[in-house]
Amino acid sequence: MQLLDGKATAAQIRLELSEIVKERKLEGKKIPHLAAILVGNDGGSVTYVGAKVKACEEIGFESTLIRYDDSVPENVLLAKVKALNEDKSIDGFIVQLPLPKHIDEQKVTLAIDPRKDVDGFHPMNLGNMLIDHPGFICATPLGIMELMVRNNIKTEGKNCVIIGRSNIVGTPLSLLLGKNKSPGNCTVTLTHSRTKNLTEICRNADILIAAIGQPGFVTADMVKDGAVVIDVGTTRIEDKTKSKGWSLAGDVNFDEVAPKTSYISPVPGGVGPMTIASLMMNTLKAMELKGK
Ligand code: GUN
Repeated sequence: MQLLDGKATAAQIRLELSEIVKERKLEGKKIPHLAAILVGNDGGSVTYVGAKVKACEEIGFESTLIRYDDSVPENVLLAKVKALNEDKSIDGFIVQLPLPKHIDEQKVTLAIDPRKDVDGFHPMNLGNMLIDHPGFICATPLGIMELMVRNNIKTEGKNCVIIGRSNIVGTPLSLLLGKNKSPGNCTVTLTHSRTKNLTEICRNADILIAAIGQPGFVTADMVKDGAVVIDVGTTRIEDKTKSKGWSLAGDVNFDEVAPKTSYISPVPGGVGPMTIASLMMNTLKAMELKGK
């Protein structure tokens, strides 16, 4: 078993990006600028957005964090999105999800200029991904593809089973892995809560990707010997042994699954850091595309 070390892989990407920034600075060129809107105080969202801002600082990107209280009216948030769309100094921005219930997430996503949608959530970018047109690929699927490429995981002809069909992970990832490209050319099965014989289907997977947000859902009996297992789950669970009172749990029961695998991504330190690295790559791309 080998660890798919997303923490180390993401650090390598950040280093590469910081070299690009250094060169741009020497040449007097613009530095990529990412903005993030964070609504409320949800612990997970605060942590993720904090990590995104920290990654910008480490690489040398400019960053702007805009925070609102949980009670922010939808029209105020939409006005901010419009202002960021029009702000020439901002190359890309994200609105951290989930948003409070009184705000229509879809309306907010649609309001973002697709050219600045570095999360790749706008339908224009999802469509561009489908037809291989330039645009932004959602950060988590892009991070998973990059994690596989940089760790020499071959996908060609492999059976890939994805558990979870969310708009931001499972569904776009199923499209990417099924494409006639490298990485890609997988035979993809996208499974979900209504799937019958899930264990049997998973046992046929050369590459098994769990993205359902249920801690420990994937057990050893669901995994073929030698499979590649990628864990996208990041659920906070109470952990009194930690000073912060919680720890992150993946969708895979790591201890029992790991010995059966050829490669497995841990939680934390697997897909999470790769998502952030992908967001940084997309922000650089947004700046480059703007110049065209
Ligand atoms: N919430 C969970 N993952 C993400 C992400 O990748 N981007 C945004 N904007 N919100 C999220």
